[in-house]
Amino acid sequence: MFDPDSYRQQSLRTWGQMASGWRDRNDWMMSLSGVVNDWIVERADPRPGQTFLEVASGAGDLGFRVAERVGDEGEVISTDFAPEMVEVASRLGQEKGISNIRHRVLDAERMDLESESVDGVVCRWGYMLMADSAAALGESRRVLREGGKLAFAVWAAPDRNPWAAVPGMTLVQRGHMDPPSPGAPGIFAMADPERINDLVTGAGFAKPELEEIPFDFVYPDFDDLWDSIVRLAGPLANVVNALPADEGQATREAIRENVDSFRNQDGSYTAPALTWGVLSN
Ligand SMILES: C[S@@+](CC[C@H](N)C(=O)[O-])C[C@H]1O[C@@H](n2cnc3c(N)ncnc32)[C@H](O)[C@@H]1O
Repeated sequence: MFDPDSYRQQSLRTWGQMASGWRDRNDWMMSLSGVVNDWIVERADPRPGQTFLEVASGAGDLGFRVAERVGDEGEVISTDFAPEMVEVASRLGQEKGISNIRHRVLDAERMDLESESVDGVVCRWGYMLMADSAAALGESRRVLREGGKLAFAVWAAPDRNPWAAVPGMTLVQRGHMDPPSPGAPGIFAMADPERINDLVTGAGFAKPELEEIPFDFVYPDFDDLWDSIVRLAGPLANVVNALPADEGQATREAIRENVDSFRNQDGSYTAPALTWGVLSN
């Protein structure tokens, strides 16, 4: 039985532990997946002087892009529920010299923000991980001014995202994880367009426009692919990192075998990824 409160506590701990990985692999992540942020920024269309909220910011890159667009008279409120992630985003923002951004800890399911206080809400790869995505989208609607846009990304189906599905399936096969249960939060919890539509319209938004955004994850070698699992992959990382050393090693080898079809001749790996871009107001 899914217990939302223990899920929230575990998720908060897990993402706090992932923060250093998201910091260290930030350039790698952005070089491959910047196209998703481009889509969100273009569709949300932030204008000079506006206030935008970024939900589940992680290392904060999407908010940095929005900050360029709202300019010095505008503001981005960059938020994440894990204080360690907020710290990473705040440091990276300082290093980039961005001044029109406010970094703060905020749980998307219960936002301590005034109603109708922002002109746009953006989020990349956050809503599907929340214990109650409907509540988080409801809060996003509440804080958004009339006519303001909501633009976000969630992962499409597992068969279009083998970079995550194959390691996940390997952990299930080896008995380290249960298969995802229907309706429970997780990386593929909002993969179904009908579910996206129901959640978005259920929160009071208009029928969303959906677009597929394809890109590739590229890893120079298997060590790097493994590093991305154990330092970025939230719940998967959690499971792998808790395995006893010998089973950890065996699991690593099983994943190596299972991702072999993505290995290039030079030993690098290229794994396809597909995310939904979602726009509503
Ligand atoms: C997969 S990471 C994505 C980070 C970033 N948006 C990106 O795309 O690079 C998911 C992020 O969601 C955050 N998160 C999960 N549940 C949350 C919640 N209820 N409220 C706010 N942030 C949450 C995690 O702390 C983590 O930083």
